[in-house]
Parts: sequence; C-alpha cells; structure tokens
Amino acid sequence: MTSVVIILGPPGAGKGTQAMRLAVELGLPHVSTGDLFRENISKNTPLGELAKTYLDAGKLVPDEVVIDMLFSRVAAADCANGYMLDGFPRTVAQAEALSERLDSDWNTRAVQLDVQDGVLVERVVGRLLCRDCGNIHHETFSPPATDGSCDACSGELYKRTDDTAETVLERLAVYHGETSPLISYYSERSALEVVDGARAPEEVFADLRTLLVTSEASQQEAR
Ligand code: AP5
Ligand code: MG
Repeated sequence: MTSVVIILGPPGAGKGTQAMRLAVELGLPHVSTGDLFRENISKNTPLGELAKTYLDAGKLVPDEVVIDMLFSRVAAADCANGYMLDGFPRTVAQAEALSERLDSDWNTRAVQLDVQDGVLVERVVGRLLCRDCGNIHHETFSPPATDGSCDACSGELYKRTDDTAETVLERLAVYHGETSPLISYYSERSALEVVDGARAPEEVFADLRTLLVTSEASQQEAR
C-alpha cells in the first residue's frame, strides 16, 4: 500500500510549515501546488505567466491547469512510493481527478488543519519566506534570529506578493466556497483526520506526527 497524504486547510493554517517537516519524517516528497506555481512564475514560464493573474487576485487557477501540472509532478520517480500534498486538491473536481488516478494500491489520507479565520490574516500578512530553502518564518510568531536572514540557511527572506490583507480575505472566501466541501468529501470516505491548528507549531506537529508517522510505521510493519 502506497500513501498519499493530503494536508487540508485555509490560507495561513500552517500547511507548508507542517508539511515541510512531516514529509521529512515520513520520507515522502512534499508537493505544494502553490510552490510549483511560484517556481514557474519566477522562471517566467508560460504556465507561470498564466497562473500569476490568479495568484495575485487570490483566485483558484483553473482545475485542468492545476491537475495537469500536479499529475506531471507526481509522475516523477521520487513520488513512486507516495507523496505529501499541500494545497491540492482545492476543489471537488480536483479530488475526483486524484481519486481516478490512484488505483486500490494507494491509500489516501487527508488531515484538516482546523484554524478559525480570526488568526489567519495576521499569520499570512506577517509571513517571511526564504528565497533559497523555502523555510517559513513569521515577523512575530517565528522571527528569524537575524533580520532578513533565514535561520536554516541564511538565505534572503521575502514576502509573497499575494500576502496582502485584501488578497488573504479573497483567498479565505475562496477556501470557504470551493475548498471546504472537501472536508465532507474525505470524511464521507472515512479518510479524514482533524487536528487543531490554532496551537503552537510544535504542538500541532506533535499531533500530526503521532497521527501520520506512527500509523505509517505500523502499516509498513504489516506489509
Ligand atoms: P498556496 O501557496 O497553497 O497558498 P494558501 O493555500 O493560501 O496557503 P498558504 O501558503 O498561504 O498558507 P499555509 O497553510 O501554507 O501556511 P504557512 O505554513 O505558510 O496557494 C497560493 C495560490 O496558488 C492560490 O491562491 C491559488 O491561486 C493557487 N493554487 C495553489 N494550489 C491550487 C489548486 N490546487 N487549485 C487552484 N489554484 C491553486 O503559515 C503561514 C504563516 O503562519 C507563516 O508565517 C508561519 O510561520 C505562521 N504559522 C504557521 N503555523 C503557525 C502556528 N501554529 N502558530 C503561529 N503561526 C504559525
Ligand atoms: Mg503554503
């Protein structure tokens, strides 16, 4: 049995923060559709050019574009034994496409990071990202030891262009309208776990670790 782990949650829920660490613990590649779009934008590819308008407006990139990009990424050899998805699926159509792609040898598990809207804007607007290693800081909640410099690799820290208060509110509205139906989608298929994401990152990680790493190890023993 091969695992696809889906980290679900609104903007600022901590999907990237947690997925980066969990992927290392689980030995799975971390596949973030947002990161793939940002990589294309920074390289000025045609896909990046198309996606930029949607990202800057806080809207979803059309399903067929995201699905093509994601499927081509997970066809790579490093995903043959499973992968961790951050930011995909985002609509029921994307979830259906993923489910059709995976045969019964694949075990799909979704974890929802549950965080109230009230704290999300502050989290997103204060986010700082490392240009070199992708490490995630926050101006107040996890400030770097040296201003402007990543704790992990000393790379330059920057802000995403879509991390404005106005765009976050739009992204939140899109999340509630188009992505939150996935909570019932995976729950109805007995594939959903919920973790309280409003606590300190270490506490959230400890719960996710127990939930995913421990059960993954027992699954591997059973194989
Ligand atoms: P994407 O990059 O996926 O953005 P998002 O879903 O809006 O989520 P974020 O990356 O903003 O938040 P996060 O949950 O990863 O939080 P993080 O860990 O960084 O997508 C961007 C855009 O790409 C979309 O708007 C869309 O246009 C397009 N797109 C992507 N996928 C798509 C798809 N499938 N379909 C269509 N379009 C798609 O944490 C945030 C901040 O909070 C950080 O500063 C962090 O340090 C801090 N923090 C994290 N956890 C905690 C905590 N527990 N306590 C305090 N602070 C915390
Ligand atoms: Mg993210």
